[in-house]
This record gives sequence, structure tokens and C-alpha cells, in this order.
Amino acid sequence: ARICFVHGDGHCDDLSVPDGTTVMRAAVSHSVAGIVGECGGQAMCATCHIYVSDKYLEFLPDMDEDEDEMLDDTVEPRDPVRSRLGCQLRLEGDIADLEVTVPGRQV
Ligand code: FES
Repeated sequence: ARICFVHGDGHCDDLSVPDGTTVMRAAVSHSVAGIVGECGGQAMCATCHIYVSDKYLEFLPDMDEDEDEMLDDTVEPRDPVRSRLGCQLRLEGDIADLEVTVPGRQV
């Protein structure tokens, strides 16, 4: 799988990771700035908040209730369609190739 993390200054961390890796794990294992993953992927911290780029939105899996509730607690404003928790998105299938924007702050 492949993922590109776009930062506020426009640069992108473009990573290759095993299929099925979550967006949060991909970021943390490559020390991508701006993704914290404090709770280790339990949908309990919202420090893995990311904004999914428009062209991938139609391929995203539905979010469950835990993710939806946690997204109300992000530090940067929640976007009604683009905000997701990175720990709840796996890079596989239709989103094995993904681009996301990293929020300015997570804590
Ligand atoms: Fe904590 Fe995703 S890592 S909510």
C-alpha cells in the first residue's frame, strides 16, 4: 500500500507500507510529524485525526459510532466529510493508495 501525508507547508511524506496497515501505524512507524496515536489505535484519543483528500472520499468505509464520537473531540476543527481517525482506516482494497492532510495540531 502507499500513503501520502500532506503537511501544512505543502511537503508530502510518501510512504510504502504493507497492505492492511492503518493510516496511524503507517505514520507513527515512519515518524511522520503531526500524527501522535496516543491511545495506540483504540479510537480513544483523536490524536490520529487526518483529513482525507477529496478524490478518495467515495472509497472510504463507513465509520462506526466510536470513531464518530471521537471525531467530535479533535483539536483542529472536524470537517464534515474529510475528517477521519487514522487508526480506524486500513490501507487496503480501494484505499490501498491514499492521500491525507495532517492537521496543524493534535494536542
Ligand atoms: Fe487514538 Fe486513533 S490512535 S484515536
